[in-house]
Amino acid sequence: MKILVFGSYNIDKVYSMPRLPERGETLYCGGFEIHVGGKGLNQALAFSKAGADVTVGGKVGEDGRYLTDYLEENGIGTSDIDFSGKYTGHTIIETDPEGQNQMILFGGANREITEEYCDSLLAKYADADLLLTQYETSCVEYMLEKAHSLGIKTALNPSPYVDEIKNLNFAHADILILNEYEGKSITGEADAESIAKALHALGSGEIILTLGADGAVYYNGSDYVSAPAFRVNAVDTTGAGDTFTGYCLYELLSGSAPYEAMLTGCAASAIEVTKPGAAETIPNREEVMKFLKNTK
Ligand code: RIB
Repeated sequence: MKILVFGSYNIDKVYSMPRLPERGETLYCGGFEIHVGGKGLNQALAFSKAGADVTVGGKVGEDGRYLTDYLEENGIGTSDIDFSGKYTGHTIIETDPEGQNQMILFGGANREITEEYCDSLLAKYADADLLLTQYETSCVEYMLEKAHSLGIKTALNPSPYVDEIKNLNFAHADILILNEYEGKSITGEADAESIAKALHALGSGEIILTLGADGAVYYNGSDYVSAPAFRVNAVDTTGAGDTFTGYCLYELLSGSAPYEAMLTGCAASAIEVTKPGAAETIPNREEVMKFLKNTK
């Protein structure tokens, strides 16, 4: 299975906080770590660990070479990354003892991507089984439209949510994979089933909606399927959605039923949240299968 991930590459600066600070407050943090991150990087890694042959596109600066080195070391093709960015994207992530976080995101090179770059990438990967993208780079709409017109299957994770997402032509995204907050923001609906159905009416063929502790639901216009989450002690939820995305989509594209695909995604993300960090804590396939076996 050949996957092209067009996405973001960030340096994640993670601060462990006793609690999240109030407006105007200064708080000491209990610890600081730098991790590789970005939704593009995390999802590429999850897809690859699930079993796919993954190539990435996107843009970093010279300060981001270690991000692509990390992907290469993990068997992901990075030869089409553009290194001419001024600064690589970065995040400031504050995590609290319950594993919740808040984030400041500097787009940097991720937001300097041009339509010309997208054209050159697609010209090389017209035979991809899937183009997966998120909403942390420039040119997302252009990329989806172009890939769709070339007959490449497309998946969009419209994250992080910004209001302009509502104006996208969702018919260019064959699969829409998103969390409840994003789904509510796009549709204005409140419950999972109404959100999934309203999203489908916007044009995507398949909707996968994650619901945190309530698992995930799938809707394709006829079948509405839900899968449960697994109870674990979460230490850091950063990257949970990305882990779910890579594993769930891999299973779906491999022909698994939506329930099995979502369950595998939930298992992978349940493991991922038990350790601090995002990309480095995405489990490999063996761990996910063992987890699923032990919880059945
Ligand atoms: O989804 C988690 C990711 O969001 C982090 O790695 C951070 O870089 C932000 O892009």
